[in-house]
Amino acid sequence: MKVDVILGLQWGDEGKGKIVDYLAKNYDVVARFQGGPNAGHTLKIEGKKYVLHTVPSGIFRENIINVIGNGVVIDPIVLCKELDFLEGANVPYEQRLFLSKKTHLILPTHRYLDAASEAAKGKEKIGSTLKGIGPTYMDKTGRNGLRIGDINSPNFKTTYQKLKEKHTVLLNMYPKIDFDLEAEESKWFESLERLKKLKQVDCEYYINEALAEGKRVLAEGAQGSMLDIEYGTYPFVTSSNTITAGVCTGLGVSPFKIGEVIGITKAYCTRVGSGPFPTELSDDMGEFLRKEGMEFGATTGRPRRCGWIDLPQLKYTIMINGVTQLVVTKVDIFNKIPDFKAATAYKDINGTSEKVPFEFGTGGFKPIYESFDGWHSSLEGIDSYSTMPNQLRNYIHFLEDHLSTPVSMISTGPERKSLILKETEAQQAV
Ligand code: GDP
Ligand code: IMO
Ligand code: MG
Repeated sequence: MKVDVILGLQWGDEGKGKIVDYLAKNYDVVARFQGGPNAGHTLKIEGKKYVLHTVPSGIFRENIINVIGNGVVIDPIVLCKELDFLEGANVPYEQRLFLSKKTHLILPTHRYLDAASEAAKGKEKIGSTLKGIGPTYMDKTGRNGLRIGDINSPNFKTTYQKLKEKHTVLLNMYPKIDFDLEAEESKWFESLERLKKLKQVDCEYYINEALAEGKRVLAEGAQGSMLDIEYGTYPFVTSSNTITAGVCTGLGVSPFKIGEVIGITKAYCTRVGSGPFPTELSDDMGEFLRKEGMEFGATTGRPRRCGWIDLPQLKYTIMINGVTQLVVTKVDIFNKIPDFKAATAYKDINGTSEKVPFEFGTGGFKPIYESFDGWHSSLEGIDSYSTMPNQLRNYIHFLEDHLSTPVSMISTGPERKSLILKETEAQQAV
């Protein structure tokens, strides 16, 4: 068996949580492969809304094992809040939520450093979620980090103190900010005690053995490909590999074990935090998309920047990820508008181009648009592709053609059931 992958093709918040929750019923294991509590994955099941940050989005499907892979970074305080929330919702997790021993820990001082570093950057700040992501991955690659597998070691407190002292020295470089370190530390150690009750696994063996036994594994991405540390709009990115390659390092599987790569895009585009966004709309249409799409961060509550879909950007992330099928979410946000646009190329000082080169990060890419007719009707109650409005089907065909990738699902609302499956040519041929 191979690992199927679900990941975001834009700047995050594409609707990954909803799609993972929907598809999880077809799998035995759902595994998060990177990121941390900077993620906010929203699920809506029979009117109830749930937001997950670290826990994989397969947790609401009975009998499915959910693994937090070693590419993820865990804040024990945030994870325990999620566990409280699952208990409140009567979701049994104790036997179904496993932690990779190699997963790195976010210390309270990592959060402190994140906030202080952002404050020092002033106007040039990344717009980080302030969850300690950057400093934790820095300690990981700097070979100073603490991991879940270390928490039972008798030396754990000493190693913790050493790392904390190092952070305290670094903090002197930054402007002073409010942070109650003592209170945060005491919550952190209490939360760690609780996490000791969860099963810890050698994720790479667990996943590879599951595949060898014929189990079906779904890898869940966080953030989006344009926030990838290597290929995103650096430095306005996150600190992990959000792309398919991150599945191999984040779960310990070989590239030959990657199966379907399901890339998710909204019908338009959003971004939270700073950085280039060529198709951003600062007019009434941008405001309409934000209001109608309820585009406010699931983790920080910040308003998301909104704009039209950007096809050169999608071609780039489809290429880097090896996307085999596309999911288009939030098409219902276009129900009320007469027409909408998609960027098909950029104009820059060198002429017209369909590429996302190094210079993309420095801005100055002016989109060239194509317009599409709206469908002026609600999509509620529509349960098959063939009964969708013609204008919407034309748009989906255009996307498939332009992006040379089949669309397999179209999401028409936040609810689990608001999803239209569209047979791809490969499926039709079977
Ligand atoms: P994720 O981080 O990729 O999991 O996405 P988020 O949960 O941060 O943001 C997606 C938002 O859109 C959430 O509020 C979802 O409930 C909502 N959503 C997902 N799919 C659809 C859809 O097809 N239509 C509408 N209207 N909302 C959707
Ligand atoms: P999900 O999984 C959208 C953005 C932040 C900031 C940049 C760096 O819900 O799609 P970080 O805290 O990682 O150092 O912030 O990345 N960002 C996200 N934007 N969705 C996310 O996750 C994000 N996680 C981080 O806003 O611009
Ligand atoms: Mg999100």
